[in-house]
Amino acid sequence: MIIGVPKEIKNNENRVALTPAGVAEFRKNGHPVYIQSTAGVGSGFEDSEYEKAGATILPTIEAVYEIAEMIVKVKEPITSEYALIKENQLLFTYFHFASSEPLTHAMIERNAVCLAYETVEKADRSLPLLVPMSEVAGRMAIQEGAKYLEKPMGGRGILLGGVAGVKPANVLILGGGIVGTQAAKMATGLGANVTIVDVNLNRLRYLEDVLPANADTVMSNEYNIRQLVSQSDLIVGAVLIPGAKAPHLITRDMLSLMKKGTVLVDVAVDQGGCIETCTPTTHENPTYEIDGIVHYCVANMPGAVPYTSTLALTNATLPYAIQLANKGWQQACTQNEELKKGLNVVNGKIVYKAVADAWGLTYTPLEEVLN
Ligand SMILES: NC(=O)c1ccc[n+]([C@@H]2O[C@H](COP(=O)([O-])OP(=O)(O)OC[C@H]3O[C@@H](n4cnc5c(N)ncnc54)[C@H](O)[C@@H]3O)[C@@H](O)[C@H]2O)c1
Repeated sequence: MIIGVPKEIKNNENRVALTPAGVAEFRKNGHPVYIQSTAGVGSGFEDSEYEKAGATILPTIEAVYEIAEMIVKVKEPITSEYALIKENQLLFTYFHFASSEPLTHAMIERNAVCLAYETVEKADRSLPLLVPMSEVAGRMAIQEGAKYLEKPMGGRGILLGGVAGVKPANVLILGGGIVGTQAAKMATGLGANVTIVDVNLNRLRYLEDVLPANADTVMSNEYNIRQLVSQSDLIVGAVLIPGAKAPHLITRDMLSLMKKGTVLVDVAVDQGGCIETCTPTTHENPTYEIDGIVHYCVANMPGAVPYTSTLALTNATLPYAIQLANKGWQQACTQNEELKKGLNVVNGKIVYKAVADAWGLTYTPLEEVLN
């Protein structure tokens, strides 16, 4: 199968869908790979590295879409790419169809086969192509939090780990899933006092077992959170209720209970945020202040560390991409339930119910397109 990797053109997107190591893997399996010139530079990979691994560099995005049977990307195609997509072309990337009606209609019209990273799902219901970005964001939350706790950055001027004779900072983490666990690992490693709240008692039991002694677990409820916010220096929002808006665990009135210069990092901002006063910000302008409390609410945190994010993402996507190339999408999806769940739009039909429901469009059961 002919593989094409265009350069990401969405604003500030520096990730790339394939590393030179990924190219070598496709070549080993007998597939030609075409990479758009400079597609990897934002993540630290030069054209020459791709060539060495066996790829052919093409000068334009048009040339990549023209030649490829499977396009491997990071972000959903943007408007200027729609017309480049060919009938029956397989697109393997993040789509997030339920948040863009124009994209959904465009992909239906292009008669393409759209396999979305975000809906590839394992039997235990985990989402293997979303996990790596949660891992990155969770670890980054502490790095960013520590930075904004510095006085010149607006914070209260406290060092996360303290020093001999001076207490470390208190870090409160709301939600002990992927993001929360990674944040806890980083914060405990730096020597902070960490408290994680979650509603899932089994999850709290697990965290209690695996985290070091400077991490405590507490049941998530309003009473406990009210008590904890007044003692916290850094609060990380990492709550997720799948398919729903995040609940506001920190309400506006709780800001008055906090110390001036407390830093809030709401990682869950992409699902509406679990801190009422959080609204999405960008890497150009990541923070704002309300009542002396610093808010960091960047909706695409992994975008700031494209090297790590690209490697983390491609480690997870590559095995699926190789299956698609080796078997073709029909056979690969028939044999692999995880990949099958990734199919969203196939040759003009919506085969993922939540996407059809989101826009009031007709849903076609997958079985009708998989034979
Ligand atoms: N901003 C970014 O760049 C970025 C990057 C990656 C992920 N995210 C977002 O981070 C959020 C967390 O993702 P995740 O992968 O860790 O999800 P996850 O499903 O692994 O974890 C969510 C946790 O929240 C807990 N929870 C649910 N309701 C709760 C409540 N009322 N109180 C306390 N805990 C509660 C769940 O029990 C679960 O343990 C998501 O919204 C995700 O989209 C944002």
